[in-house]
Amino acid sequence: MKLNRLARKIRTAKAIISAHLLNRRVPIMANLLLTSRCNLRCFYCYVNVENRKDADIPHEKIIKTVNDLYALGTRVFVLLGGEPLVRKDIGQIIRHIHSLGAVCELITNGLLVPKKIDQLRELDSVCVSLDGLRKSHDLNRGRGSYDAAVKAIDTLLAAGVPTRIKAVITQNNKNDVHAIHDFAKSKGIMVTMSLACTYEDREYNQENSWLLPDEETRFYEQVTELKRISPNIGYSSRALDYVAGWPYSKKHIVNRRGTNNPQNYPLIPCLRQDRSLYMDVDGCIYPCANMWGKGGINLFELGAEKAWKQFNSFNCSSCASIPDIDITLLFSLFLENWFRAARFL
Ligand SMILES: C[S@@+](CC[C@H](N)C(=O)[O-])C[C@H]1O[C@@H](n2cnc3c(N)ncnc32)[C@H](O)[C@@H]1O
Repeated sequence: MKLNRLARKIRTAKAIISAHLLNRRVPIMANLLLTSRCNLRCFYCYVNVENRKDADIPHEKIIKTVNDLYALGTRVFVLLGGEPLVRKDIGQIIRHIHSLGAVCELITNGLLVPKKIDQLRELDSVCVSLDGLRKSHDLNRGRGSYDAAVKAIDTLLAAGVPTRIKAVITQNNKNDVHAIHDFAKSKGIMVTMSLACTYEDREYNQENSWLLPDEETRFYEQVTELKRISPNIGYSSRALDYVAGWPYSKKHIVNRRGTNNPQNYPLIPCLRQDRSLYMDVDGCIYPCANMWGKGGINLFELGAEKAWKQFNSFNCSSCASIPDIDITLLFSLFLENWFRAARFL
């Protein structure tokens, strides 16, 4: 199993290097929302599962999408939702992706991990969402979800599945940054933490939930301090430094032409639109969660090839979102990010 994982990683590495050297747009990493059904109601969730009419993508449509994207060069499939484990065919989907020789990662709230562990053993990695200590995690994600997430992490680790955790920081858990790191350290796994992406046209059922600008700065300082002393922080120093120097609000997005970068901040041009995509259940593709719901291009209607060709039209070129900067650095062959990815991709 380990050899299979290694072979898939090597194939991915080759694809990244070749796209970079040939300067070609290739959707190397595809994040696929398999369903909008979810067994939790995290108040900040960008997928807005409460208000969705669509549910699962039919099985055949997923297999076709995976095949079409693979033909375009996708070598990493990240399965999410909604909650991907509510699907009965999750094991089949994972097996199909592996049959192509591509990497398969899954993001989960963990609730169904113990029940489905036999279908998950071969995954290249699993990311469990863990937002803090029990009280704050449950405020973000729902009562009982902390215990389930911890049990999922233990189950995955016992099964030998590479596992990491990811936290979204809000007012509920802003004081848990160190505790989240300490938990990851105690399990010997990697952790990433980010601010919630927010959307002006959405109503949230928890008011005043986002960090204030000073708190955002403090949050990044804490992560940067932890990074200096801990190998468990899954962000690169380069990305953290970039955000520390970011002269605008953390929500500011520099447009394509860079005309709203009055301070001439030396930008890391984001490669999301050139190397990766997020596909919603309705087939619309977006560069990242920050651009969610705005001007998506429909892959089901256009077909994968046409959709990918039209995809680099989003009016953004750089922002202060660490996960997106980090993936850009990985695609740009930045060495520190390669060592990090080697550990959990
Ligand atoms: C949409 S969830 C789907 C997978 C699964 N149900 C879970 O809870 O992990 C995927 C990841 O996105 C994160 N997420 C959801 N909404 C977000 C937002 N508004 N900003 C940043 N991350 C968000 C979740 O915490 C989770 O780690």
